[in-house]
Amino acid sequence: MRRFLLVLLALALGGLPACAEASATPDNGSTEEVVELPSLKEIYADRFDVGICVGNRAASQAEYMAFVESQFNILTAENELKPDAVLDVGMSFVKAREDETAVVVRFDAAKPILDYAKEHGMKVHGHVLVWHNQTPDVFFREGYRNSAPLVSREVMLARLESYIAQIMEYMDENYPGVIVSWDVVNEAVDDTTGELRDSLWLQVVGEDYLARAFEYARKYAPEGTLLYYNDYNTAYFNKQNGIVKLLEALMAEGNIDGYGFQMHHGIATPTVKEIAASVERIAKLGLKLRVSEWDITVPGNDEANFAKQARMYGEIMKLLIDHADQFEAVQFWGLTDNLSWRASQYPLLFDADRNPKPAFWAVVDPESVE
Ligand code: XIL
Repeated sequence: MRRFLLVLLALALGGLPACAEASATPDNGSTEEVVELPSLKEIYADRFDVGICVGNRAASQAEYMAFVESQFNILTAENELKPDAVLDVGMSFVKAREDETAVVVRFDAAKPILDYAKEHGMKVHGHVLVWHNQTPDVFFREGYRNSAPLVSREVMLARLESYIAQIMEYMDENYPGVIVSWDVVNEAVDDTTGELRDSLWLQVVGEDYLARAFEYARKYAPEGTLLYYNDYNTAYFNKQNGIVKLLEALMAEGNIDGYGFQMHHGIATPTVKEIAASVERIAKLGLKLRVSEWDITVPGNDEANFAKQARMYGEIMKLLIDHADQFEAVQFWGLTDNLSWRASQYPLLFDADRNPKPAFWAVVDPESVE
C-alpha cells in the first residue's frame, strides 16, 4: 500500500522541475519499485550544493550510493575524517621517541567515501580538523603516552601544523579537487557562557588555537578551498553571541571563509523565528554560509509529528532560499532515519525503507508548506 501511494505521489508531482530515477525501496531488486523522485541536487542546482553525510560502510554499497548520488552532489564523512580516525596513534607513539612533534596520519577509514566521490565527480566537505571530541587524548600528551604530562604549547602547535599539512598534502595528491571545503574547527564555543569551551586545545595551546588552525589550513590547503568554523545551537542567544564574537576575531585574522550552521534541531525548539534571527545576524557578517549537519527530531513516527517536521523543514528551507547568495551548501546529517545518530527520533527525509517522508516533499517544494 505504502509503495502504491509513493508511486501515486511521484506521479502527482511529475510536473516538478527535475526528476531522478531512483529506487525508493531497494529490497529484492524488483523493478516495479523504481519510481521517479525529484532530485534535490537538481532542484537547487542554481542556488547551492545539496549534500549528505555517509559512513564508510554505506560508501561501499553501490546501490545505496547510487541513490545518494541521485539526490545529492556533495558528501561529508560522518566520522572518517575526524582526528580519532585520521591520527595514527600507534605510529605517532613510535615516531615520537625520536621527535616529540612527529605526527602520523592514515586515511583508510575515509578511503571508500573519497574514492566514491572522486570516481563519481561528487564534491566532499571535509569534517573536521580541530575538535574537542573524537580526538585521542594522547594527541596532547608527551610521547603519545596515556596519562603522560601535556606537551608544551610549542610542541602542540608543531603537531597541529604537521597534522593539517599532511592531510592537505595527501588529499591534494590523491584526491585533487575533491575536497572543496573544510570544517577547520568544530564546536569551540561554550553553550552557556559563550566563551571558548574548556578543552585540551585551549589548555595546551591557549586561546589562539583557532587562529593558528585557520592559519595552517590556509597555508597548506589548495587554493580556493573554503575554510569554515562549524557549530550547533546558533539560534540560542548566549551561544550566538559567543559565536559572533569568535567569528569577528577570526575574520580579523583573514583566514576564515565561512560559518557552518549544524542545525540539529527538534520540532519544539528552537522556533523557526529564532533560527531565522540567527541566520540573519550571522549572514550580516558577510561570510559564506552552509547548513553543515541538518536534522529535525520528532518524538514519534506518526503522521502528526511527520507533518510538523515537514513544516519546519519547509519553513527553514524558505529561509535558506532567501539567503541563497550566501549559502554554499545545505547538507543533511544522514539519509534514512534508521541510520541517523538520532535514529530513535526519526529526524531525516527518508524512512528506513528509503521511502520519502513528508519532510522530503517539503524540502522539494517549500512553498507547499503552509
Ligand atoms: C556524530 C556522528 O553522527 C556519530 O556517528 C558519532 O558517533 C558522533 O558524532 N556534531 C558534529 C558531528 O559535528 O561530527 C557529530 O556526528 C554530530 C554532532
